Amino acid sequence: MFKHIRSFVGKLFNENQQMLVVMYLSHFYWFLRKYFLAVEIIYPEEFLTNWSIIKHYSSQDRERNFTVYQMIKVHNEIFKDKKTNVIEFGVDRGGTLTTISKFVKDSSEIYALDSFGFFSDDIKSNVTKYDQHYLGTYRPFTKKTRFKNFNYLALEKQLNEILIKKESNLNIIKCYFPEKIDDEIFKKISSIKYSFVHVDFDLYKPTLDVIKFVIPRHEKNAIILLDDYNLINQEGVKWAVRDSGVNINKCIQTQSGQLICYT
Ligand SMILES: C[S@@+](CC[C@H](N)C(=O)[O-])C[C@H]1O[C@@H](n2cnc3c(N)ncnc32)[C@H](O)[C@@H]1O
Repeated sequence: MFKHIRSFVGKLFNENQQMLVVMYLSHFYWFLRKYFLAVEIIYPEEFLTNWSIIKHYSSQDRERNFTVYQMIKVHNEIFKDKKTNVIEFGVDRGGTLTTISKFVKDSSEIYALDSFGFFSDDIKSNVTKYDQHYLGTYRPFTKKTRFKNFNYLALEKQLNEILIKKESNLNIIKCYFPEKIDDEIFKKISSIKYSFVHVDFDLYKPTLDVIKFVIPRHEKNAIILLDDYNLINQEGVKWAVRDSGVNINKCIQTQSGQLICYT
């Protein structure tokens, strides 16, 4: 019942307003952790500085972004001194991609894929019965809403200015994954292995496609982080994980709804 109420109320706001409301509610909820549970997390200064910038365009709240930050740090330790590939599915306006780019270790090649509103019709026409919040007339991830005045090439340039100092590089790929993507680029991303994968496509079909793509292409000990696993209005993600055959016993569910899989 609450799932339907939340979905209905959410759609009364535009996507940017929805994200602001979620951020405010989440901040208040986690602020209470100290008073209810006597648990206090002292966030690293570098994380808070990054958060103060990205919170204006992030589609995640601070807690989920802190998981991304921590998992990238764990990844850096596991793959220390190695040249590795990192991939993100679902960039939006670059909240998590900025965190990944700022904190990833040296010698990392990053690939980041999104439709950026160019393929919003494809996204809409592939919504399934598992993505109830996205059925009907609601159109997510469009040029008119989320991507109004957004330039992904400017984001790529800005993050590469940080990455070049770490002998690293970012390639942002505009596509509808996996069906509408430049052949050469698809060949390239299919031919390499990944040490860190962030999956944030929100919907059943592309999430399942990503998991199938990633399973034969991850390094040993790679980290696969899925956003939205336990989010009640993005339940397609959980169905995709179930249908992919991922061994849930090798994964951790975070208190903020993400799923972390060890490989
Ligand atoms: C929740 S957002 C990603 C949020 C982002 N990680 C952040 O931190 O702000 C989901 C994104 O997935 C993209 N998307 C969904 N399905 C896709 C597909 N099949 N191919 C490409 N992009 C897709 C949408 O355009 C949208 O920007």
